Amino acid sequence: MSKKALVTGITGQDGSYLAEFLLAQGYEVHGIIRRASTFNTGRIDHLYQDPHVMGVRLFLHYGDLGDSVSLVKLLYELRPDEIYHLGAQSHVRVSFDIPEYTSDITGVGTVRILEAIREAGVRPKFYQASSSEMFGKVAEVPQTETTPFHPRSPYGCAKVFAYWLTVNYREAYGLHANNGILFNHESPRRGETFVTRKITRAVAAIKLGMQEKLYLGNLDARRDWGYAKEYVEAMWLMLQQDKPDDYVIATGETHSVREFLEEAFHCVGLDWQKHVMHDIKYERPSEVDLLIGNPSKAKRVLGWEPKIKFKDLVRLMVDSDLETLKNPEKR
Ligand code: NAP
Ligand code: GDD
Repeated sequence: MSKKALVTGITGQDGSYLAEFLLAQGYEVHGIIRRASTFNTGRIDHLYQDPHVMGVRLFLHYGDLGDSVSLVKLLYELRPDEIYHLGAQSHVRVSFDIPEYTSDITGVGTVRILEAIREAGVRPKFYQASSSEMFGKVAEVPQTETTPFHPRSPYGCAKVFAYWLTVNYREAYGLHANNGILFNHESPRRGETFVTRKITRAVAAIKLGMQEKLYLGNLDARRDWGYAKEYVEAMWLMLQQDKPDDYVIATGETHSVREFLEEAFHCVGLDWQKHVMHDIKYERPSEVDLLIGNPSKAKRVLGWEPKIKFKDLVRLMVDSDLETLKNPEKR
């Protein structure tokens, strides 16, 4: 019988790649989606459309990380073998505008799932989408599984809370509960308000004469950017281990937002300085200046290694946005 996985945040960037990956592995995949006034399944619609990929193995259920009862009911009914908890208010800048909501969904949302597991009396393997944002004002370079946390945003604080809850449920109840401490990972499916995608979309639009200027905040911040499609495989590998644990998933390289800009504009033969303007509204009250991860534990234990590095990632995203803008019907 095929394994059953439940994915929160299935409509997001990572959820869509993970659902694709799990279906290809033969899983029956269940996802929680939110009711919205517009369609919000754009990233997973292709999984319905291709009967060879999909069959009847992808099921979507309405629910919300703020609604415990729906989570408990779902777990009673499904009794999944694995839970990938990816749902969150995931935007760092926005978390300063809605800190209470972010704490509730990104932080307490994890408790709701973990308690629903206990309430339903199930024993799934559990993955928590932890984040390099927890390292914040970094205590050491590069960051590893033992680097202390110093979050710099309400989002980062909520993720630290969820991280420790996951560790606690492992220690207190013997749950196979794992933290993937993922550094920034991007793709053509990245949300349009995160900096990489904002840049690659703008580069494509400027190249095609559809846009003049791009407004950005801090260009000096440095991030360890990898490819989302590869990162979801690390999530799965964590849940295939005999023992639960915590892992840093990163490329081991760091680049500034300015370098990302240079590379993206370079891909289409344009000079970024002619198009980029500063707008203070994109700056954060407190910033994370430098992130760079050491993924050697993931390589040693999981056999996981990133293949797509910085320049390939930028090129892949710019090419995809050019293609999409040239063929809007594919959007
Ligand atoms: P994303 O694209 O923003 O997706 C977030 C998902 O959470 C969406 O499916 C969203 O649903 C869902 N969601 C939001 N609020 C919810 C609620 N109240 N109830 C139920 N679902 C809700 O994020 P991502 O980039 O795929 O990241 C996946 C996870 O990894 C997140 O937890 C994120 O914080 C974490 N993470 C991401 C990175 C990264 O670089 N991408 C790095 C480290 C950790 P809608 O589609 O309806 O909005
Ligand atoms: N979003 C955005 N928009 N960021 C900008 C802009 C802009 O116009 N201009 C400069 N930046 C800078 C931000 O200040 C930050 O230093 C950097 O670009 C990256 O911003 P984001 O792409 O929004 O990502 P993030 O690093 O804050 O958060 C992402 O990565 C985390 C992992 O470290 C998100 O995916 C989080 O959910 C994730 O946990």
